[in-house]
Amino acid sequence: MDQRAVCVLLCISGLLHCAAAHTDVFTSIGQMTDLLFTEKDLVTSLKDYIIAEESKLQQIKQWAEKLDSLTLTATQDPEGFLGHPVNAFKLMKRLNTEWGDLENLVLKDMSTRFISNLTILRQYFPTEDDQAGAARALLRLQDTYKLDTNAISTGNLPGVELSNLPYQSTMTVEDCFELGKIAYSESDYLHTEQWMAQALRQLDQGEQSEVEAATVLDYLSYSVYQQGELEPALRYTKRLLQLDPGHQRANGNLKYFEFQLSKRRESEAEERERARDEGGVQEEVENRRKRQAENEVSEEYLPEKRKYEKLCRGEGLKMTTRRQSRLSCRYYDNNGHPRFLIGPVKQEDEWDRPHIVRFHDIISEQEIAKVKQLAKPRLRRATVHNPETGELTTAHYRVSKSAWLTEQDHPVVDRINQRIEDITGLEISTAEELQVANYGVGGQYEPHYDFGRKDEPDAFEELGTGNRIATWLFYMSDVAAGGATVFTEVGAAVRPLKGTAVFWYNLFPSGEGDYSTRHAACPVLVGNKWVSNKWIHERGQEFRRRCGLHELDRSHPLLPHPPPHLL
Ligand code: OGA
Ligand code: FE2
Repeated sequence: MDQRAVCVLLCISGLLHCAAAHTDVFTSIGQMTDLLFTEKDLVTSLKDYIIAEESKLQQIKQWAEKLDSLTLTATQDPEGFLGHPVNAFKLMKRLNTEWGDLENLVLKDMSTRFISNLTILRQYFPTEDDQAGAARALLRLQDTYKLDTNAISTGNLPGVELSNLPYQSTMTVEDCFELGKIAYSESDYLHTEQWMAQALRQLDQGEQSEVEAATVLDYLSYSVYQQGELEPALRYTKRLLQLDPGHQRANGNLKYFEFQLSKRRESEAEERERARDEGGVQEEVENRRKRQAENEVSEEYLPEKRKYEKLCRGEGLKMTTRRQSRLSCRYYDNNGHPRFLIGPVKQEDEWDRPHIVRFHDIISEQEIAKVKQLAKPRLRRATVHNPETGELTTAHYRVSKSAWLTEQDHPVVDRINQRIEDITGLEISTAEELQVANYGVGGQYEPHYDFGRKDEPDAFEELGTGNRIATWLFYMSDVAAGGATVFTEVGAAVRPLKGTAVFWYNLFPSGEGDYSTRHAACPVLVGNKWVSNKWIHERGQEFRRRCGLHELDRSHPLLPHPPPHLL
């Protein structure tokens, strides 16, 4: 059955909102909003069912009451009762037809309409994979923004303001337990431990739940054991056995953990003995080496993932006051381009190297609304180029939904493309189409370059327009918390600000890739992030942006008014 047929069917069956058959629903709030409306329609259908069921029960009750008093009277004096001819007739009628009618009423299924609505819609509900994806998104947020499980569970998130309090959502013991189980199924024992401990804490605080403390303890002891923590594993197992002394696995584990612990204590004692014999010198040297190594891990050597997470939290920014003072803002008209004479645009330096500029009030509310409306039905899980095969695939490091809009779709797309061309002075006909992306909670794009590297199969060969020379990125929403664009090599962070756009060159004028442009989209913590971007290509820029003479010539003659002292 094609999608349209399904929609017609649903509309016939009285449900207004047609859920589209998309996968990876959790990656975009845009599509999840449809689910909310679908759910609302289902509640209406469920209430209709309850009303029908209640009215049926009401009729049955009335019948029962009527018959109750009737049979009471009749049985007190059966002969006298039947001596009345109408009573005799009525008894025949009741037994012959009315009890039959009642049987039909009792057997009547009032749920068919509701059940058929539910069955149809359930085909388009999120899957196990979606639930796991949403869980993983929560765990990612927990790590990136260093949130503790209690803050998440009580809905106490940064960015959730008092005015938003009705949306503040709390997690039940079951929710925590489910999250822990998903982490467990992925052998992620740290998160298993954290969420099972949270479930246990809430149980200890007296929260009523179907989930039993013993089950939670079972997961807890195993997950801490997997992390090499024998003492707590033993402690949790003992507590489990207090609740359920016959628990077979726990009894087995108890002996095993005790044995392992005694073995470990023995070897530690031997170790200490030996160290004392050797004057403890070796140990001391080793400890000192470890301490030095720890101190030496400076910012520069942090794994990229850690740098990315820090920047997302607003830590480790490489902006100094001196540096900041050299950045400025200005009105810009692209050297008197006729389009800007009426109203020059506001341009602000966000960063010096790479030079990143932000344009304010560059896309209107109406344009944003139109672009979102055009993109929404087409949103699909965003793909990335597999550097080994050059093919497009989905990846856990890019979690969002995106759609491409062409000039044929609507005049607004043409208008936007033209604006980018007017401002940057770059040829836009060789650029990729306008890409619209929507990041749901936890949606992110881990550090990457927008340009193709020399050592990769040429990802843009098919396009025949060369490499991605520059990136233009519109912010089409504010984001309550998280969701910044961060530049991991240089330690810059750019906040989404609705109606603005940022622009930077990915290539030096020589055509060499600028590795300082490595960037990422931080996970959205609270809110919904909409962006759209234009990847501008090399072809057509030959006369618009001069080639550099030197391979690493950094000057970007066409970057709108670069502050000269910074280049
Ligand atoms: C991209 C990108 C950043 C952002 O789509 O290539 O880097 O903040 N986006 O969405
Ligand atoms: Fe990018």
